[in-house]
Amino acid sequence: MSDKKEHRFWSQQPVSQGKKNHYVNEINKPIEPAKDPVKDIRDKPLNLPDGYEWCELDIFDKIQIEEIYSLLYNNYVEDGDSMFRFDYSIPFLQWALSPPEYKKDWHVGVRVSSTHLLIGFITGIPVNVNIYQNTILMAEINFLCVHKKLRSKRLAPVLIREITRRINRCNIWQAVYTSGVKLPGSISTCRYYHRPINPQKLIEVGFSCLRRNVTMTMTKKLYKISDCPKTPGFRIATDADVPQIHSLLNEYLKRFDVTILFSEEDIKHWLISKQNVVYSYVVEDQETKQITDFCSFYVVPSTVLRHSVYSNILVAYAYYYASSKTDLVDLMQDALVCAKKNKIDVFNCLDIAENKQFINKLKFEFGDGNLHYYLYNWRCPIFSSEKIGLIFL
Ligand SMILES: CC(C)(COP(=O)(O)OP(=O)(O)OC[C@H]1O[C@@H](n2cnc3c(N)ncnc32)[C@H](O)[C@@H]1OP(=O)(O)O)[C@@H](O)C(=O)NCCC(=O)NCCS
Repeated sequence: MSDKKEHRFWSQQPVSQGKKNHYVNEINKPIEPAKDPVKDIRDKPLNLPDGYEWCELDIFDKIQIEEIYSLLYNNYVEDGDSMFRFDYSIPFLQWALSPPEYKKDWHVGVRVSSTHLLIGFITGIPVNVNIYQNTILMAEINFLCVHKKLRSKRLAPVLIREITRRINRCNIWQAVYTSGVKLPGSISTCRYYHRPINPQKLIEVGFSCLRRNVTMTMTKKLYKISDCPKTPGFRIATDADVPQIHSLLNEYLKRFDVTILFSEEDIKHWLISKQNVVYSYVVEDQETKQITDFCSFYVVPSTVLRHSVYSNILVAYAYYYASSKTDLVDLMQDALVCAKKNKIDVFNCLDIAENKQFINKLKFEFGDGNLHYYLYNWRCPIFSSEKIGLIFL
């Protein structure tokens, strides 16, 4: 349906406009050529409607990060039935927005001039993306949000245009982003899966339902998770593991068509555990002391809207992993054990990468949400989800 919708904004952007068959010489190329970032890209922010002004947000300033938190807490993504809303914590937002080489002016806000209330937000971070054998420095766009009271006033396109201008001024011409809604230019559509860890709570808050003819006792038994990891040498990753995780992960990711190319600094930033934000584990060979496998998950609670008992559920999301010796099913089983130890209620994943190897075996349930992946100003063939090795927060 949405494919047939008229897209006043996106139809004018350099994204694939739904043409199925491209000429070979059009593929794996920018849609628009790069320009001169100084001469061709305006140096001043775009015009906003009267009464609004741009701001650059300092994520390490206590007041400003609280403003971002509160905008997202009250206005960010909800499920289709408006029962849950993402609740990205302050430490999570600071982590997500400060990787190596991050640019402060890619944390863009819009305020009401008279009150200074933050009502719009969008962010970018620099990422090296490997896509069909090309490595391109792109922007990864996230946290687009407009206050609920100001929706449908075409503020989102202004935010997107403004961050594009700032990125282009850095001589970067491609971007990658995801969305739950279908827009022009998607390169892949993925499906969410959910592994209940605390099924009783999930049923009570309406995240899942009790199956017909199945009691709560039977459901709890079905999803029971053991208390200890079973892979010998499975332990939390430390700073000293960074070089080995770096080579293991970059090597493993070569099997996918679109991935991140990580530096060692990136690994240290993204993949060393931070409490309630991200958890990473390695398998260390007992004899050689080599790291043979690696897995991780990140944590984003969701607010339970309008519930008398529970205010939130703790949700983990499968993050990067690499297996060279341990079966992926065993590795993720141990990740579930660690998630349970950290009080996670449900463990989510998409059907990307090699996740289908463990989705059924570890009792992940088919979800009702899709996630679409997009590229800005890059034309390439469409991917099946298992060719994706790039994970968004
Ligand atoms: C997403 C959001 C910022 C859009 O703002 P809005 O007030 O609903 O829409 P606006 O009138 O400002 O702009 C509409 C345009 O933005 C596009 N748009 C809507 N959601 C979008 C998204 N997630 N990513 C990119 N563009 C989007 C629309 O397709 C439309 O362009 P079109 O005419 O070419 O189709 C707003 O709905 C919101 O904050 N939602 C909750 C948070 C959220 O879903 N964020 C996106 C996470 S991916």
